[in-house]
This record gives sequence, structure tokens and C-alpha cells, in this order.
Amino acid sequence: MNHFLEISQLSREQIITLVQRALDFKRNPLSVSYPQYTVVNLFYENSTRTRVSFELAARNLSMPVINMNLKHSSESKGEELEDTIRTLAAMGIKIFIIRHEQEGLPKKISQLLSNQVHIVNAGDGKHAHPSQAMLDIMTIIEQKPDLSQLKITIVGDICHSRVANSLQDLCEIIGIKELVLVAPKPWQPTGSHYGRVTTSLQDGLADADVVIGLRVQRERMQTHEICDVAQYRRDYALTNETMAYAKKDVMIMHPGPINRGMEIDSDVADGSRSFILKQVENGVFMRMAILEHVLRS
Ligand code: CP
Repeated sequence: MNHFLEISQLSREQIITLVQRALDFKRNPLSVSYPQYTVVNLFYENSTRTRVSFELAARNLSMPVINMNLKHSSESKGEELEDTIRTLAAMGIKIFIIRHEQEGLPKKISQLLSNQVHIVNAGDGKHAHPSQAMLDIMTIIEQKPDLSQLKITIVGDICHSRVANSLQDLCEIIGIKELVLVAPKPWQPTGSHYGRVTTSLQDGLADADVVIGLRVQRERMQTHEICDVAQYRRDYALTNETMAYAKKDVMIMHPGPINRGMEIDSDVADGSRSFILKQVENGVFMRMAILEHVLRS
């Protein structure tokens, strides 16, 4: 069975094909139907965009959707997640969308139950958020299709960000001109990474074509990693002043949820160069392409 677990499992050709398919769905969302496949949303961490857009994506494909209420599932009686999935698979359910705080859990489940179900990773801890990276590149390609000329800059809490990890993989595979990772020292990548790392926002934003802000993820931080909010804003916030370093037609993006007045100002988030809600819109179509991809390949 095919799974969608992390960007590194995809080739450049597969990434481009998924983007093209998502753009097809955007033009004609009700073009195909797969009513024989039921989708289950298993979200162990909170979500607005990812959960709802996977649900809308499945409904657009005529797939029945079950949103498991995990507080009331039999896992509260000690059932293991893999047994929950085996149980639902025995009822004929084939597609499981999993968000979990444990890094690598979707992959582990896919290996245990490989011949029975399709697993889609909707975000696992700090590790990966591949559908977010795919909808991000779709949004970029719509506006700036010549990726080989692009400078993309990711700003903020890089080391706790599964989005930043998946975007690094994606930029490496797809081949952009330059990726810059801007973060204060405690939030810089600690292990292997792709892209040039700098503490200087001005350096990172200079002539950038795309700027992707990240949420400050306090819930994932150790005590020694929590920084002074006022200092962080002074040095790293995306404001009208700091965005002046970037190109005039810069795309401003953020996976959301945003913390207004923290990592990004409202003037920037709601301004004419912001693509934050376009990312959300594109998420539905990219997730349609991903659901079809796991069934077809
Ligand atoms: N970007 C993202 O994953 O948002 P949600 O947590 O709302 O799904």
C-alpha cells in the first residue's frame, strides 16, 4: 500500500505532478469520485487548517469521512493506536490521516500495517508536515513558477518546526536558487539541514522572493529555549519596516496559526503581499491530490 509520510520519499517529478494535479483540482474540484474509500481523521494534536482541509478534500472526492473523537474512542480504555487502526481497517476503512506529537509514529504504523491501509502524515511532532510543504510550493509555483531563480527565506523557530523540516527537504529536491534559514542561535537547526543559516534578519530578507514566517512554538520548547518575547520581536518580527529588505513583489507566507504582534504584524499578515489565506485555500486542492496519489501509486 502507498503512504504519504515525508517529502524525502518523493522525487522531483512526483512533486511537480502532485502540484499540477492540485492545480487541476482547483480548476475543476468535482472531476473524479472515489466513494468506495472511507477516510478517517485521527488528530491527537489540535488542528484547524489541516484537519478541515483533509475533510473537505475527501468530500470533494466523494469519500466518506469519519472524524474520530479520540476522547471517546477505546484508546481511553488502553487500546493501542495500531489496534484501533486494525479494528477500523476490518470494517473496510483504507485511508488514515494521522497527526501525533510522537515523531515517526505515522511511519511506524505504516510499516506495521503496510498491506492493509494507506497512512497519511498530517504532522508528527517536530519531524515533518509534508502536506503543508506541498501546499506551500503549490502557492509559490502559482505566482513564481521559475523556481531555479528564487531566494526563499524561512524566519523564526526553525528547530521546533516540522514545516521548516519538510520545506528544507522540498527545496533540496526541487532545486531552488537559494534557501536561507533565519533564527536566533537557540532556534537554529541542531542536526543535518538544507540551506544557509544566519542570525541576521536583514541578511536573510535581502532580495528575498518568498518569506515564510513560522509560529513561535512555546509548547515544544525546553525551558532554556524560551527567549525574551520583546527581544525576539525587535530582532526577527516580520513588520513593514523589516519587509522593506525583501524584493518589492515578495510573497509573504506563514503556515498558520499566526501570532499577530509576535512573529508577524497584522499590517504584513493582512497586506497585499500576503499569501497566507491563499495557502489555506490551496490546501484543500493539494490534499485532494495527495489522497488520490496514495490510492493510485
Ligand atoms: N499549518 C497547520 O498545520 O495548521 P493547523 O495546526 O491549524 O492544522
